[in-house]
Amino acid sequence: MNRVKVGIIGGGLMGKEAASAFGRWFTLEDHPVIPELVAVCDLNPKVLEWYKKIPTVKLLTTEVEELLDEESIEVVYVAVPHHLHESLYSKVLQAGKDLLAEKPFGIDLAAARAILHTADQLGRFVRCSSEFPFMPGAQRAFKAAMAADFGQIIQIRSGFLHSSDMDPDKPINWKRQVKYCGETGVMGDLGMHALHLPLRLGFYPKKVFAQLQNIYHQRPDGKGGMANCDTWDNAMLYTEVEVRGTSVPMNLEMKRLAPGETNTWYIEIDGTDNGVRFSTKSPKTLWTFHREKEQSWKRTDLGFNSVFPTITGGIFEPGFPDIFQQMLAAFFMERAGLLGEGFGCVTPLEAVMSQEIFAAAGISHQLGKSVAMENQKINEKI
Ligand SMILES: NC(=O)c1ccc[n+]([C@@H]2O[C@H](COP(=O)([O-])OP(=O)(O)OC[C@H]3O[C@@H](n4cnc5c(N)ncnc54)[C@H](O)[C@@H]3O)[C@@H](O)[C@H]2O)c1
Repeated sequence: MNRVKVGIIGGGLMGKEAASAFGRWFTLEDHPVIPELVAVCDLNPKVLEWYKKIPTVKLLTTEVEELLDEESIEVVYVAVPHHLHESLYSKVLQAGKDLLAEKPFGIDLAAARAILHTADQLGRFVRCSSEFPFMPGAQRAFKAAMAADFGQIIQIRSGFLHSSDMDPDKPINWKRQVKYCGETGVMGDLGMHALHLPLRLGFYPKKVFAQLQNIYHQRPDGKGGMANCDTWDNAMLYTEVEVRGTSVPMNLEMKRLAPGETNTWYIEIDGTDNGVRFSTKSPKTLWTFHREKEQSWKRTDLGFNSVFPTITGGIFEPGFPDIFQQMLAAFFMERAGLLGEGFGCVTPLEAVMSQEIFAAAGISHQLGKSVAMENQKINEKI
């Protein structure tokens, strides 16, 4: 067994989720790597208190440098606001550590490219977080698309929907302010999730037409006043991709205000012969379309058929903590050179591609027309 010491920078919502996944690593059967969480850094000492209950954690600090000076740490997971991605990811890489980054991999396209450049120059192993493709239903959809037995693909739809922002009284946080979240707004927040599978399938758009909405312009500031809420809340990206010589519409939906949707991630690929549809709204259910004499959508309950085997019974349903752990399992497997053809985390290049698409969407919205991606060349100037 290969033991790897891990640090976390940013101990908030996602830092805790990662700690929870490391803490029950023994539920994975025969995983060749055992990550051990030994250090956590957060600016806020109150956040650090929670980590005192984890016996393997030996260092709690408010100083990033103190964590990075710890030579035994080989991998760092960084989950901080987007305006800090470039500087903190670079510090991690320069300290000689490998990096599991959080999306959107920099506050904008320039930052994402700079991080990719640093990672390449230093030859570090870097991946970006996106866990929903590790749902068993998402894996089955991916495999169906790889098998390419859809006939001619008619359309691709991928999206990620939230609804907690429907409440106008929800106080503002860093995710709703351009200076911390970035100009891409909801795209930076939810877009990597919608793009991981399409990009892995080679569906990089030729053209992007975007509709971006800022629905609530102000929110309570939590101190009795109001604060400007200047990020995009909802984004619809109507794109065109080339699939085996044919142009196919690919719609990407990312919404913070989607009535009733708590954390709904979905993918749908419709073909003339076959099709596939999966949504976390029904986490164990895969829908497959078949055109025979009669056309039918078949429903299959999948259960807990995880990518990396665990002790959980096959009839049970997977949830967010499970797929987050599966994603971490893929990260450590790939880092150890053992993933082979298995499904891996978002690569730095895919993260940069997603930012290219968001940047093009911003231009499209500004111009009110579609923008040609021309294989990233146009965006070199963005
Ligand atoms: N993969 C997912 O499903 C998912 C879900 C939510 C958020 N995210 C991403 O995770 C990242 C963090 O989001 P979150 O929801 O955990 O945010 P959060 O606000 O809950 O936590 C961020 C933490 O970073 C700390 N912090 C801020 N500046 C710091 C610094 N200089 N050094 C150390 N700590 C610092 C804050 O004190 C806070 O505790 C973002 O990139 C976000 O897009 C991913």
